Amino acid sequence: MVPRGNPASLIGGCVSSECEGHVSTFIEQLEELRARTIAELNLASTTTELDEIERNVLGGKGQLTALLRQLGSLDASERPEAGRESNRIKQELAALVAEQQERLHASELDARIASEQIDVTLPGRTPQIGVVHPVFQMIEELSDIFALMGFQTVFGREVESGYYNFDQLNIPSDHPARDVWDTFLVESDGAEIVLRTHTSPMQARVMERTTPPVRVVVPGRTYRYEAQDASHEWMFHQLEGLAVDEHITLADLKGVLQELARQLFGPRRKIRFRCDFFPFVEPGVDFAVDCAICDGAGCRVCKHSGWLEMGGAGMVHRKVLEAVGYDADKYSGFAFGLGIERMVMMRYGVDDVRAFAGNDLRFLQQFAARAVGAGRVAA
Ligand code: FA5
Repeated sequence: MVPRGNPASLIGGCVSSECEGHVSTFIEQLEELRARTIAELNLASTTTELDEIERNVLGGKGQLTALLRQLGSLDASERPEAGRESNRIKQELAALVAEQQERLHASELDARIASEQIDVTLPGRTPQIGVVHPVFQMIEELSDIFALMGFQTVFGREVESGYYNFDQLNIPSDHPARDVWDTFLVESDGAEIVLRTHTSPMQARVMERTTPPVRVVVPGRTYRYEAQDASHEWMFHQLEGLAVDEHITLADLKGVLQELARQLFGPRRKIRFRCDFFPFVEPGVDFAVDCAICDGAGCRVCKHSGWLEMGGAGMVHRKVLEAVGYDADKYSGFAFGLGIERMVMMRYGVDDVRAFAGNDLRFLQQFAARAVGAGRVAA
């Protein structure tokens, strides 16, 4: 490496006035710098080292440049020879630097190509592509089916107030029905905040901001503090449905759920309504579909009953309509709340609800090939 020198020292410590007339000393210094630079250039093994030598010798603040500035202090008669020699050496060194640059650059490129060789004949690594969770495939499919029947899909909040989860649904705090939903309390200091136990709180929230007609479905997660078994999870998904308009009857509810069962499970499915009680509907029903796995004959999935309960439903209670300011004499409506895991179970013969949140890739990957909407019958 060439040290950065004091330009004055290159001409034997002379300062300009003392050096006047010392053309031979000047040329000796030039020759000495030339020889040293050539030796350094020959030793350089990387383009970085080469760049540094070039900067130190030929650069604006380099040693040769500094030496050339001394030309003016020579005798006028000596300057032409000194100038010619300086230019010759400068050009020679510049050419040598360029030549070395080219050589080192080529060898560095060769080394890089050799070290980064890619074997294009190696088999590729198959990327692991994620799969839409079967519950979310079902949510998309349900939204599509209900969209064709004029229902808009909306989403609610998972952390709800007790007011919407219970009170607005005709379940006051002293009502025994409140105990049916094993509730996770998030906060009960002052306002009661819960993890919603069902998607029904969205009924009041939607009606409060909508003038009838109303037609919405609300898919989403729900939570209950209850023991897990093959058909019960502490976290599961529901799809709420709500339709409010003039002259809505139980026959409309039946028609909508019949059509849902036909689209989801095939044209031969039967539906069953039995009386049930929910404080926010009157009359209330439980809604079941004859088992698509055994065609109603009885199997493990339907617990040998031939029927699978999908959810609760009924005509919206007039107290719920009145609580949001609707005229209950003018408007009527139906509502339903379906268990989404149950629908996937029935559709594909899954016999344990815990499989959905169990995180077993072997289970989930079985749903990879199922396009959303596969198996639906044409409307
Ligand atoms: C309700 O949650 C009512 N909100 C449904 C409703 C809405 C009635 C509108 C009337 C009008 P229920 O607790 O029965 O109802 O739950 C509805 C469905 O959710 C059940 O039929 C079942 O499919 C599913 N479900 C309930 N609990 C669980 C659980 N622990 N694990 C998995 N699925 C469940």
